[in-house]
Amino acid sequence: MSRLPSGPSNALFTTVRYLRDPFGSLLGAARKYGDPFTWPTFLGKMVVTGDPSGIKTLLSADPDIYEALGADLLAPVLGENNLILLSGERHRGMRKLQNPQFHGERLHAYGRLITSIADEHAGRWPLGQAFSIQKTMQAISLDVILQAVLGLGEPAARAAFRDAVLSIVAALKPSFMFIRALRRPMLGLSAWARFQRLRATSAALFEKELAARRASAEPREDILSLMLASRKEDGSAFGDEELLEQMISLIGAGHETTASALTWALYHVHRDPSVKARLVEEVRGLAAPLDPQAVTRLPYLDAVCSEALRLNPVAPIVGRTLRRGLTLQGYDLPPEISVGIGIVNLHRRADLYPEPEHFRPERFLSREYGPFEYLPFGGGSRRCLGAAFAVYEMKLVLATVLRSHSLRLIRDVPVRAALRNTTVGPASTIEMARD
Ligand code: HEM
Repeated sequence: MSRLPSGPSNALFTTVRYLRDPFGSLLGAARKYGDPFTWPTFLGKMVVTGDPSGIKTLLSADPDIYEALGADLLAPVLGENNLILLSGERHRGMRKLQNPQFHGERLHAYGRLITSIADEHAGRWPLGQAFSIQKTMQAISLDVILQAVLGLGEPAARAAFRDAVLSIVAALKPSFMFIRALRRPMLGLSAWARFQRLRATSAALFEKELAARRASAEPREDILSLMLASRKEDGSAFGDEELLEQMISLIGAGHETTASALTWALYHVHRDPSVKARLVEEVRGLAAPLDPQAVTRLPYLDAVCSEALRLNPVAPIVGRTLRRGLTLQGYDLPPEISVGIGIVNLHRRADLYPEPEHFRPERFLSREYGPFEYLPFGGGSRRCLGAAFAVYEMKLVLATVLRSHSLRLIRDVPVRAALRNTTVGPASTIEMARD
C-alpha cells in the first residue's frame, strides 16, 4: 500500500493537544485511527506505531535508513554538534566515545556520589512541612549530572552552572524551537532573544571552566575531561563550541528526565500503602552503610522503577526521519516521512500489561518483557545513552531516601502528565511532607 495510514489532519491542533495532554492525545489517536496512524507535526508527517511487531520492524531496520528527527530545524537552537541531532558516522563516533562513561566500572564509581548527594538533599527537607517533590528531585539529579558529566565537585562552581542550566531550560520554548519565524530578536524582547542571552552567558562560564581545565594537570575522570583529552577520528581535538554542545545534550537529556521519573516513582509508591510497605522493608533490610551494588540487586526496587517508567514514560514517543523507503505493517512509507514509536501506546496495551492504568510493580516480577514490549529508553542505535546511569540513579536515590525518611503525600489525587520544558512530567506540583 503506498498511501499513508489515516490520522488527524491538523498539525496545529494536534500539537496544542499534545502539549497539554501528551498521553491522551497519542492514546486517543490510536483508538480513533488504529495502529499505525499518521500524526501531523511541525516536523512533518510521522507514522506512529505502538505495536510490538511494528516496533520490531522499526528497530531492526538498518540504522542508516534513519536521520535524527528535526535536525535541520533544531540545530540552530540545540547546536549542530548535539548528539541528539547527529546521524550516521558522526553519531556512531560520538556514542562510541561517550558510551563507556555510562556503563560498567565507570557507572559504579558514581554510586557513592549519588547516595551522598541524595542524603545531603533529603536531610534538608523540612519536618512536617509540604515541599515540591519534583523540585527536590530536580535539584538532586542536576547535582548528580553536573558532578558526573562536568566533574564540578566544588560547590560554588556547581552553583553557578546549576543556575545557568536551570535558566536555559526555562528559557527554551517550544514556540521558537518549532517555528523558525519566531527566532527574531524583536529589540531584544522576544523569548528567542532571552534564550540567546542566557546561552551566551552560559557559554562564557563554560569557556572559563575549559580554560582552567586545560591549564591544570590534575587527573580527572568526568566526561568533560575525557572528551578534552580525546581526539576525533581525524586526529583533531574537540573545540570549545563542540564540547559545549555535547555537554548541553547530556545535561539536557539527563537531568529533567531522571527527576520526572523519580517524582512519578515516589508519587505512585506513596499512593499504595502495600507497595510502600514492601519497598521500605526491602531497602531497610540492607546493611549500613549502603552498598550501591547491593541496591541494584533488590528485585522489588527494580520492579518499582520499571513500573514507574512504564506507566509514565518521560518520552511518550520517539521518532526518526526516513532517508530511504520502508515497509511498515503493510504500508510502503516514502523517504522524508518520519516514523515514531508510540512508547505510551505500547506501555498501555492491556494484552501486555493487564489493567494498564494501574501501578503494579508485581507485573515485572512475574513476567519478563521482550525488547519490543517495553521501551522507556527508546531503542536501536539511538537508545538512551544514559539508560543504565538513569536506572542506577533512580534506585540509589529511592533507596537512600526511603531508608532514612518517612514521607507522605499531601494530597492523594490523580495527577496528569503534561509537557514540562523538554520532557513529559507531572502537570501539577506534587507535594510531600517528611514526618
Ligand atoms: C529516567 C531517565 C531517562 C529517560 C526515561 C530517558 C529516555 C530517553 C529516550 C526515550 C531517548 C530517545 C531514544 C530513542 O530515540 O530511541 C533518550 C535519548 C538520550 N538520552 Fe536519555 N533518558 C533518561 C536519562 C538520561 C540520562 C541520565 C542521560 C545522560 C546522562 C541521558 C542521555 C541521553 C542521550 C545523550 C540521548 C540521545 C541518544 C542518541 O540520540 O543517540 N538520558 N533518552
